[in-house]
Amino acid sequence: MSKAIQIAVVGSGYVGLVAAVCFAEIGHDVICVDNDERKVAALESGDTLIHEKHLPELLVRYRNNRIRFTTDLGEATRESEAIFIAVGTPQSESGDADLSYVEAVACEIARSLTSYKVIVEKSTVPVYTNEWIRRAIERNGVGRRLFDVVSNPEFLREGTAVEDFLHPDRIVVGADSEAAASLLAAIYAPLTTGAYYQRPDAIRGSCSTAQPPPLLTTSTKSAEIIKHASNAFLALKISFINAVSNLCEVTDANIEQVARGMGLDSRIGPRFLRPGIGYGGSCFPKDVAAFRSVADQLGIDFSLLTEVEKINTQQKKRFLSKVRSALWTLRGKRLGVLGLAFKGETDDIRESPAVDLVEMLLAEGCFITAYDPAAMKRTEEQIAASRHLHYAEDAYAAAVDADALLILTDWKEFVDLDFKRLYTLMRYPIVVDGRNLFDPAEMHDLGFTYISIGRPAVYPTRDVEVATTAGV
Ligand code: UGA
Repeated sequence: MSKAIQIAVVGSGYVGLVAAVCFAEIGHDVICVDNDERKVAALESGDTLIHEKHLPELLVRYRNNRIRFTTDLGEATRESEAIFIAVGTPQSESGDADLSYVEAVACEIARSLTSYKVIVEKSTVPVYTNEWIRRAIERNGVGRRLFDVVSNPEFLREGTAVEDFLHPDRIVVGADSEAAASLLAAIYAPLTTGAYYQRPDAIRGSCSTAQPPPLLTTSTKSAEIIKHASNAFLALKISFINAVSNLCEVTDANIEQVARGMGLDSRIGPRFLRPGIGYGGSCFPKDVAAFRSVADQLGIDFSLLTEVEKINTQQKKRFLSKVRSALWTLRGKRLGVLGLAFKGETDDIRESPAVDLVEMLLAEGCFITAYDPAAMKRTEEQIAASRHLHYAEDAYAAAVDADALLILTDWKEFVDLDFKRLYTLMRYPIVVDGRNLFDPAEMHDLGFTYISIGRPAVYPTRDVEVATTAGV
């Protein structure tokens, strides 16, 4: 068993809270700091605040023993060897990451530094942030020998965040000092030595004692670029496959076959080649914009990223056109919408293409009854109330009397829907699937008009006749 290290994590959002709880899970003592008193009170009372697998049970296990919550950053700094900054870096008007929260935390840490500490940036930040943090701390009168700043980006996905943290493809540590690099190596040792995976109560995933995750040590600048470049590349992969899916639509090819054929090339790989209504969430849209902006500021032409964003925006418009072409006119049509979250298995609706589409369809005069397993409350709080928008208690209730059913989020629970039952509930059996969750041949056999992404649409025989005579 390696030595427990006292760690502070500043920020209790997705990254901060998951990191804090997972550091406790691998044996460290953690103080999680947030300046929002209500959040701290909620976490202290056992509320996890976010919908994330494994988080509730880990919080119950470690709350008040290996992990505690506070608003007092000064005290947390004094008590800890490493302080992880995991506060938000929202997108500013110009597309840059707004680093004011990072700066404020760095200055507050500086005011409490009395002995050597390692300050770790875990938030997604542009290259050079590490240097700015160092300068901000020095400007507050702290000597260079009292601290090091390390970049340790996080690659977790919402919905599988705990598993991603404990079973990472890689751990990246950008450190320009030996002392800081070895403290970070010690913090992650339970994972990199494989010791954690030997525990009978370890959360299972892709890593094991025989195959522990690698730790990659880089310069601080490289680590910062690795994070932005990784997210931008994944977004590019999605936009690429979406553009190819559009080509498949006009040629009657099938994107599933094309993506499979591409993904079998080990240089390309099968993941992140699922076409859809575009990427969303709190990371890809913001990080692509921030990376492009950094490149701009440094005089590098990275207009490839502008194209990635353009394709992503167009993808939603194309979906709207599909709905229109399935229904002829939109005003007054009743639509059942399945999915509001930006992807399945999360309640997060930030930059959700599903929510954008709901707003676009409301603007077209549609009546919408939406259902999402976890994101309805957030949607209700965040988008303007409309007489035309209602929420249903399940997928079947959303389909009642619908002119069409739209699939906007890839929730696992939608895969098992009983379409025979849906058929009897809907006014017209039309499904427009923005996530390719169903098999077109099966939908055809069930009597549906089924329109998906990058695959030939299927129509019940009668509809085909109508479509042919109408020249549609
Ligand atoms: C993403 C990255 O995957 C993580 O590695 C990273 O740590 C995280 O951002 C972050 O920077 O914090 P996340 O935003 O949780 O994670 O979600 P993803 O699973 O990557 O999905 C992002 C969006 O792309 C979703 O809207 C999803 O529906 C869409 N997507 C994903 C596709 O349209 N097609 C795909 O093949 C994959």
